[in-house]
Amino acid sequence: MRRDYVNVAILWFVMTLAAEFSLPWIFQIIFPGVAAEEAAISDESFRLLTILATPVFTFVMSVLGYSLFSFRAKGGAPEYGAPIRGNSGWVWGMWLFITASLNVVVVIHPGLTGLAKFQGNKVPDLVVKVTAVQWAWRVSYPAQIIDGATEVVLPLNKRVKFEVTALPDDVLHSLWIPAFRQKIDAVPGLVTSMYVTPDKIGTFDQDFNLRMQCAELCGTGHTAMMMPVRVVSAEDFDKWVKDQAEPTDPVARGARLAKTQGCIACHSLDGAVGVGPSWKGLFGKQEALEDGSSVTVNDAYLLESIINPNAKLTKGFKPDIMLKDFGTKLKQDQIDALIAYIKTVK
Ligand code: HEC
Repeated sequence: MRRDYVNVAILWFVMTLAAEFSLPWIFQIIFPGVAAEEAAISDESFRLLTILATPVFTFVMSVLGYSLFSFRAKGGAPEYGAPIRGNSGWVWGMWLFITASLNVVVVIHPGLTGLAKFQGNKVPDLVVKVTAVQWAWRVSYPAQIIDGATEVVLPLNKRVKFEVTALPDDVLHSLWIPAFRQKIDAVPGLVTSMYVTPDKIGTFDQDFNLRMQCAELCGTGHTAMMMPVRVVSAEDFDKWVKDQAEPTDPVARGARLAKTQGCIACHSLDGAVGVGPSWKGLFGKQEALEDGSSVTVNDAYLLESIINPNAKLTKGFKPDIMLKDFGTKLKQDQIDALIAYIKTVK
């Protein structure tokens, strides 16, 4: 019996040593790209918890593994060992003490200390407003007067506050940027906030973890609800802000709005049928409607389709899929620009 204790102790020691030494290598493989100060805190917590949990895991595994091999039936009549009717007080005392203190330690650090760093500084250098709609992100920068950005551009080493919500009658979404290791729900009627301090320049093309992804299953377009994130230097950020002014040429402006307002998430330009009908060759064609009639696509029809989508349903499509708020959300000249652009999609 004593021999068995010694054997298990040796096994436990060897397994723990082997596991702890391979952890750095495992961490290197499993951690996705990281690009924010807060992400480093989160990764550090994960590392620490894994390092602390490893001896507990190897202890259970060594006792289990040793028992399986050493005490398996070896032929002959099975015999029963002496019944165990309890443990001496100090055994469960130690167990309780060690696990409880481990828990208290990790609740304090990295728990409370990490949380304090995550949410500590509540004075952002930059505010980014994000509204989730089925199935797109509407991104605006109030102080920079940018509405409908097509990508999330963030300056390096600046504290950024995301103010997140969803359209009033939309479903729940969740904003997740893997490279920042943070996620926050987008809830209709509620503004939630998330702080990040990007600390590495990079683009989505270099690292797919730099993306704003919906992380709450929200319908057919859920996986496509993605917007690239780009971390740039302070100068490049200022340059980008200047470039965001809307073009004056109506067609160019319409093309931009089609992207920024999320139209092309549902309408293709190449004839492919998506959530909505394609815009390819739309203007001037005879469009069959759901009620059996047909209509020539002219300016008036395009206008009505944008501001009152349910008025004439295109054949094969359901009502209430296209958002109904464009008529109030967009200014008249923006709608005109969109129409001017749609007419050019051939
Ligand atoms: C969530 C998906 C979605 C978004 C976003 C969306 N639409 Fe639509 N759209 C549809 C669907 C579905 C239809 C077909 C049903 C209907 O006629 O209402 C449609 C129909 C249309 C039509 C009529 C097309 C035809 O073939 O008759 C036009 C024009 C149009 N949308 C313009 C826009 C514009 C402009 C925007 C952006 C400002 C936009 N849509 C955003 C889904 C969408």
